[in-house]
Amino acid sequence: MLLGAFIPVVSCGVSYLSPPVNPQMVEQSRHPKDVLQRGYVVHQQKCAKCHGYEDPANHEVEELTDEILPAMARKSKLGLADEQAVTAYLLAARQVPRPDQGSR
Ligand code: HEC
Repeated sequence: MLLGAFIPVVSCGVSYLSPPVNPQMVEQSRHPKDVLQRGYVVHQQKCAKCHGYEDPANHEVEELTDEILPAMARKSKLGLADEQAVTAYLLAARQVPRPDQGSR
């Protein structure tokens, strides 16, 4: 019974949490670490209101930057700097394999 609560239910969208900024992401990104960190925080505070972390590796870069993120930023009512930070964060995270979600 209790265990059931920890099994991710994809249809609910709460599949997993956004990965914290790590050195690999910083290396991949042309943005400084504090921008990525801001994007991570924005993701947790705004994007995660509606759904869990949607793995950016499931989407092409252009799809993310030109379609998905502008739409999602509108849904989240983000300012430009926050939108850019989330975009930088997701593009960096996209390049880095997700660490195993071992805490389940
Ligand atoms: C008001 C609710 C809401 C907020 C806030 C929101 N999303 Fe979404 N998101 C959705 C819904 C609903 C879908 C699925 C339907 C769609 O694509 O519109 C979705 C889908 C997605 C997808 C998958 C797109 C696809 O085509 O498969 C990604 C990636 C995503 N959101 C990222 C984000 C990010 C990043 C943020 C924060 C900047 C965010 N979302 C904020 C509701 C939201």
